[in-house]
Amino acid sequence: MNKPFAFNRGGPLVTERAGVTARKVGAYLGAEIGGVDLRRPLPDVQFQVIEAALVQHELIIFRDQEITGEDLIAFGRRFGELTVHPFAPNEGKAPELIKFRNDEKVPPYGTDVWHSDETFRAEPPMATILCAKEVPAVGGDTMFVSMSAAYEGLSDRLQQFISGLEAIHDIKPFRPLFEKNPKKLQEYELKYPPRVHPVVRIHPVSGRKVLFVNPQFTIAIKGMEERESRSLLDVLFHQALIPEYQFRHHWAPHTIAMWDNRSTQHYAVHDYYPQRRYMDRVTIRGGPVTGMPAADPASLRRLKYVAEGEVVPYGGHRPIGD
Ligand code: SIN
Repeated sequence: MNKPFAFNRGGPLVTERAGVTARKVGAYLGAEIGGVDLRRPLPDVQFQVIEAALVQHELIIFRDQEITGEDLIAFGRRFGELTVHPFAPNEGKAPELIKFRNDEKVPPYGTDVWHSDETFRAEPPMATILCAKEVPAVGGDTMFVSMSAAYEGLSDRLQQFISGLEAIHDIKPFRPLFEKNPKKLQEYELKYPPRVHPVVRIHPVSGRKVLFVNPQFTIAIKGMEERESRSLLDVLFHQALIPEYQFRHHWAPHTIAMWDNRSTQHYAVHDYYPQRRYMDRVTIRGGPVTGMPAADPASLRRLKYVAEGEVVPYGGHRPIGD
């Protein structure tokens, strides 16, 4: 049994402002937006409604938007600066436009794991926009989960325990890309060193608490023994698997999904190979990740050995020849 809390977070199922409608499609996240044409510049007032809907619903979906890559870039730039993914495919002339072109020759890779985008960065993206160009006849859905609902669903005890903890995020899933080029991997490891983020982040706009660890990039809880860290991460990763907090999105050509990367995770279902699934994506730069005050580790530490004077660290282990 999961901890019960307010179903649907209240609020009307459909809202309308400045000609923009938002119709809830999931219990905790997801709304379909109507009344806008993304091929044309959006009036400011409509843009503001969309921006607010993104934060409130965490995932917003636009149907029947036959837009170009340039339109997608222009729409994304309304929200902020676009970033270039260091590993995802693009065509070079507009590197901020990721082009997933999966078919019989290019099987999908690396997105069938629950994740928030690019949490290996010091400042992970605030949002991502994905636009379907061609979709498989069957399969190829994307699953989303509200990590603010996932946090709310934890027991009070566990919420208390994880407040102030920090986790380490790493480029782990991309390491196999460098199998034949370890030198290049070293370059990327220097450019993208492991980053530490709070386990519970505070959403900078809604103020919601969000469980901010994901199995794709989070490798450890800082300051814990490996076994403790692994066990706790398993429990926290499991929160994303609870169906009540999820929404499964079925694509049609020219559908756009935009997710708040600060409060959601997603999982691209890799069940369509060798069918064709062509998608365009842009990613919007995020800001600092703010959490709760960390507990002082010194106040938690119980010394196991107490000795007078210097002690030999690491039981005397050291690199050969040192
Ligand atoms: C992604 O993880 O950015 C891609 C999601 C998808 O292809 O559905």
